[in-house]
Amino acid sequence: MTTQRPVILTGDRTTGQLHLGHYVGSLRNRLDLQETHDQFLLLADAQALTDNAHNIAKVRENVFQVALDYLAVGIDPAKSTICLQSALPALAQLSMLYLNFVTVSRLERNPTIKDEIQARGFGRDIPAGFLCYPAAQAADITAFRATLVPVGEDQAPLIEQTNEIVRRINAAAGADLLPEARALIPPVGRLPGIDGRQKMSKSSGNAIPLSASADEISHAVRQMFTDPNHLRVEDPGCVEGNVVFRYLDAFDPDKEELEALKDHYRRGGLGDQKVKRRLEDILQALLEPIRERRLELAEAPDYVMDVIRKGTGRAREITDRTFDDVARGLGLVVL
Ligand code: TRP
Repeated sequence: MTTQRPVILTGDRTTGQLHLGHYVGSLRNRLDLQETHDQFLLLADAQALTDNAHNIAKVRENVFQVALDYLAVGIDPAKSTICLQSALPALAQLSMLYLNFVTVSRLERNPTIKDEIQARGFGRDIPAGFLCYPAAQAADITAFRATLVPVGEDQAPLIEQTNEIVRRINAAAGADLLPEARALIPPVGRLPGIDGRQKMSKSSGNAIPLSASADEISHAVRQMFTDPNHLRVEDPGCVEGNVVFRYLDAFDPDKEELEALKDHYRRGGLGDQKVKRRLEDILQALLEPIRERRLELAEAPDYVMDVIRKGTGRAREITDRTFDDVARGLGLVVL
């Protein structure tokens, strides 16, 4: 049975626990969207392997961890479908087809891939699976006929490339086999690491995981970079580029009070300690129920694996059907 609601597909590589950057970048959107959309969340273990072939245990263990994160923040398996990428054969089948509709040079020019290759220091030794993962991500998105993809801004070039592939497939088939998709990117922009670096990531040690303990949250907020020239309370401070204010922009529900706080900080007379205390209260209140729920769910691994198994079963039917439609539409033999 399929519903008439618009379809969302999104996912996360299973390389580590999710953190506040994921929450701001897309999890928060996904919580709202599951009320109005038919939402699929992909545990992207196959994509995680494209740069972790030497560390399969990590990829495997984090399938469970990322599923825990989804459920703990409030992704509801009655509303959203959580599924395992490597267990969906149609995704691999579609990827193989799509690779014939994209050139190596186009893959190399994809800005996301370019950045990631640099960050990983691959040089010339790029795993072929890694270079080609934009075609696989196009397979992920189109296999569900998704039209909306809630992701962080770094993923936008991948959605663009997906749509290029969609247009080529449709042109080759002479029919609108697949819909184009749109990235849904939150207006607050990317949440920086606590050290002010652009990207929050576990490997850089500048992330606050969703499972952080109360002490870890306090510690992270204390470590957070502020305005380096704001030395005494009475000094005027700079809000722009100040990590604590970037976080308040992302999490403080009271925008009016926040604006007043910023004015005070700019004028001088407001110490970093006070601003940090406000942020810490907000983060503690946000993360406490998530952490509690996560601990409970971790005690029920059979339930969590069952959610993944059921979701993957549902996803398998949908994605198999799409592969058949695409193969038939392109004029392949379908048995
Ligand atoms: N590339 C995403 C990440 O880095 C994971 C992902 C895989 C994804 N397939 C997807 C995201 C499809 C959105 C849509 O975490």
